[in-house]
Amino acid sequence: MLKPEIASLPKRYRTNFVNSLSGFKSGNLIGTISPDGQENLAIFTSVVHLGANPALMGFIMRPVSVPRHTYENIMANKSFTINHVASSFYKKAHQTAARYDREVSEFTASGLTPFYSENTKAPYVKESLVKIGLSFVEALEIKANGTQMIIGAIEEVLVSPDLVLPDGYINLEKAGTVAVSCLDGYHQTEQLARLTYAKPNTTPQELEKK
Ligand SMILES: Cc1cc2nc3c(=O)[nH]c(=O)nc-3n(C[C@H](O)[C@H](O)[C@H](O)COP(=O)(O)O)c2cc1C
Repeated sequence: MLKPEIASLPKRYRTNFVNSLSGFKSGNLIGTISPDGQENLAIFTSVVHLGANPALMGFIMRPVSVPRHTYENIMANKSFTINHVASSFYKKAHQTAARYDREVSEFTASGLTPFYSENTKAPYVKESLVKIGLSFVEALEIKANGTQMIIGAIEEVLVSPDLVLPDGYINLEKAGTVAVSCLDGYHQTEQLARLTYAKPNTTPQELEKK
C-alpha cells in the first residue's frame, strides 16, 4: 500500500492499520497528581527506554490542542509514575483511556488503587508489580505532527526482588506484564530465550534459563 492510499483509507480503518504497524508495544499506566491533589491515571503504549546512565525514559504525548490531564499534571508537579500493566488488571487499565472529566480520578473510575511512596509525589498503581517514579526532564516537540516526547529521569523503582535475576534482568512474565497491539489488543507473552551478547562472526547462544 502506498502513501496516498493510506491517506485515503476510512479514518477508523487507517487508525487501526497504522497503529498496528509498530508491532507489540509496552502497556503502561502513567500516574500523576494535580497541584490541588486530583489524581489522574491513563494508559500509554509509547513508553521507551532512552538510556541507562543516566537512567531515562520517555513517552509520546498526543497534541495538547485538547486538555490532556497527564500532561498538565506533569508540567505542574514535575513528577509522574510509570506502572507496567499486568494480565490481572488489563481491562481496568484499558478503561483509563476514557475521556473522564478533570474532577474524576481514573483510579476510582477503573477500580485501581493509588499507592504513594515517600520519594515520589505522583501516585503509583498498587496492583502493578513494576513501578517507576520519574522526575520531568524535558518535552521535545515533534514538529511533523505536534506530538511531544516527554522525558523523565528515573528517581525510584519499586519492584519485588524475586522478579529480578542476579544479572539485573527483570522477569516480565513473572510480573504478568502484558504486551499491547494497536490500541486495543492485549497479549500475554512467552519468552523464547535470552541470547548471548552479539559479536561479529559468532552465532548467538541461548543463555541458561533461570
Ligand atoms: C492502548 C492505548 C494506548 C494509548 N497510548 C497513548 C500514548 O502513547 N500517548 C498518548 O498521548 N495517548 C495514548 N492513549 C490515549 C490516552 O490513554 C487517553 O488520551 C487518555 O484519556 C489520556 O488521559 P488524560 O487526559 O487523563 O491524560 C492510549 C490509549 C489506549 C487505549
